Order: sequence, then C-alpha cells, then structure tokens
Amino acid sequence: MLEASRGWRVGGHTIGLVPTMGALHAGHMSLVERACRDNSRVVVSIFVNPLQFGPGEDLDRYPKSPDRDLDLLQRAGVAAIYKPTAQAMYPPGASTRIQVLDVADPLEGAARPGHFEGVATVVAKLFNATEPDRAYFGQKDAQQVAVVKRLAIDLDTGIEIRVCPTVREADGLALSSRNAYLGPQERKAAGCLSAALGQAALAYRAGGRSLDEIRLRILGTLKAEPLARVDYVELVDPLTFTPPGTLAVMAVWIGKTRLIDNHDLAQPFPG
Ligand code: PAJ
Repeated sequence: MLEASRGWRVGGHTIGLVPTMGALHAGHMSLVERACRDNSRVVVSIFVNPLQFGPGEDLDRYPKSPDRDLDLLQRAGVAAIYKPTAQAMYPPGASTRIQVLDVADPLEGAARPGHFEGVATVVAKLFNATEPDRAYFGQKDAQQVAVVKRLAIDLDTGIEIRVCPTVREADGLALSSRNAYLGPQERKAAGCLSAALGQAALAYRAGGRSLDEIRLRILGTLKAEPLARVDYVELVDPLTFTPPGTLAVMAVWIGKTRLIDNHDLAQPFPG
C-alpha cells in the first residue's frame, strides 16, 4: 500500500481513485472532479500499461502530456498522483495475471486478445496500491466498466465502482486521447459514431422497432460515411455484454484509428 494512502486511512479520510493512462482531457477530468466531490482524498494514477496493448497497437506512440497533466490535477486539488514506472509495476519475474471470464470475452475482448487481462491485472494492482473506498471509471469504455465491476466483486475488494457519463465534443464525438490521431477529414467523419447512436436512441424511444431493426439502422448510418469501416455494432446487456440488450456498443475504424462508443438506447442521447 502507498505511504500516502496509509496515512489517509489512519487520519479517517475517504479515498477516491481515478486510474488513467495520462494525456488527460475533459473526460478524465470529469472523473477527477466527481471523485473530489465524493471523497476527502483523491489519488489519480497515470500509467500507460504495456500489458493491455496488443502487438501492433499504439503503445509506442500513445499520446503523452506530463506537464499539462500535472497542472490540471494540481488545479483540481487531487491529494496525490501515482505514476509508477513499468519496471516498478512489473519487476522482473512478475508473472501473475488477472483473467475475468465471460464478460471480457466478446467484442473488445475478441478484437483485442489479452486487452482485458492487462486491464484487470493493472486495475487490481492499482486497487492494492491505493486501497480506495471508491474508484471512478468512464461509461465511454462500457465493457471495461463491466469487467472492473466483476473484478471488484469477485476479488472481495469492497471497493465501490462509480461510473461517470461520457463527455463529448460539440458534435457528439466522445473525447478520447486517440482522437489526436485523426486528420481534419477523419475528425469530421468520426462524428458518424455519435450521430448513429443519437438516431438509434430516437428510433428506439419512439417505439415500434425491434432491436435488430435498430442495429441495422446504426450500421446503415455508419456505412454511409466513406471514411468509416465498422468493426462491430451490437445491442447488448450492460452487465454481461451479450445480446439482446439496450446498450448499443460499437467499434469503428476511421482511417488507421479505431474508435469505440456506446449508448443505452433507453436513455435520451445528450445534446
Ligand atoms: P484511459 O483511456 O486513460 O481512461 C481513463 C478513464 O477515463 C477510464 O475510466 C475511461 O473510461 C475514462 N474516460 C475516457 N474518455 C472519457 C470520456 N470521453 N468521458 C468520460 N470518461 C472517459 O481506460 C484506461 O485509461 C485504462 O484502461 C485504465 C483503466 C487506466 C487501466 O490501465
């Protein structure tokens, strides 16, 4: 356990943890702000976790803005920043992995083998290092939320997982560090993900259409965008990630950049 966390515990504070990979944007900061409202001490971890990147993914070029991150977090009033090196997180000989079954298998799990094992392993280690009362995750990564909730229960952590809504740009694009990879034309095209989700929420809430029809409608909107290539679109249950369900999840390539987004069609789409 981190020295700081131990002291806070003794002092009777409540501890909130916000795990991140840095290159912070307003989506991350919404988690930090929520954590600061809910807890008397907040720790933000910044660690680009090599274990959750597959071969050929963007580990080496993952965006970094350390000075800006520090400035944003200091202004937000966080009590500590935990920024371990890869060597400290995974010293030579480290060979334990956390595998969450079932919910981690389809969709992102199938498209990115080993990804959720990497996420679950690092999140369990971050939980142990900081021993928070609550940990904060973004709805943007809906399947990650489902995996982490399962892990928190199954490993008897006693940690409450709080989920914060997806923060979006004015045109609806979900904020993501990977949006930085998009060229100007691609950036415009990327609006098709949220546009498809918004239209689907309207159609679903109007009633009279099956989930299959809604799914085809989403696919139709995405396919109308020439720069987009659909990886998957599914309507799943938000806890198990199996169909049928009202959580619309998608992964779409815009050029060489893979974007994900989701929305619960039972809820009005923001904006
Ligand atoms: P990262 O991509 O840096 O995201 C950190 C947290 O910010 C995640 O919980 C993510 O869902 C949330 N987030 C990202 N974009 C958001 C947005 N537009 N609106 C709201 N929340 C958003 O997710 C990871 O890092 C890693 O997998 C991690 C959990 C840190 C484990 O390595």
